[in-house]
Amino acid sequence: MAEAKIVRKKAYAPYSNFKVGAAVLTIDGKIFTGCNVENSSYGLSICAERSAISNAISSGYKKFTKIAVVTDSEPPASPCGACRQVIFEFGDDIEVIMANLKGDIKVMKISELLKDGFKR
Ligand code: THU
Repeated sequence: MAEAKIVRKKAYAPYSNFKVGAAVLTIDGKIFTGCNVENSSYGLSICAERSAISNAISSGYKKFTKIAVVTDSEPPASPCGACRQVIFEFGDDIEVIMANLKGDIKVMKISELLKDGFKR
């Protein structure tokens, strides 16, 4: 959560002004972070969760136990549908920690957030 809070400050969100930070924890205890990166062509914006996961994957890590998502919103924001499916790709047991700057925390398994997600 601390790392997600730090990387949140680096978010590029000039259109929504909604900064999001995410940090994924691997089974070997490594943490990879990501923030949202928006674009003037709005649909091209990348969410913080997918940015953190891409960061981990490109460093060779793909086994995750938890992901923290930090926003400045009340209640804490929960991952969008696309991010839920991307988290689910790497394990239906991954814990999603949703937090805000005030310190409110909500924890749910990805399989609760995405019931019956796509698997092939
Ligand atoms: N956003 C995320 O980074 N993660 C989510 O799960 C939902 C939304 C970003 C996308 C956009 O830059 C901003 O929040 C407002 O939607």
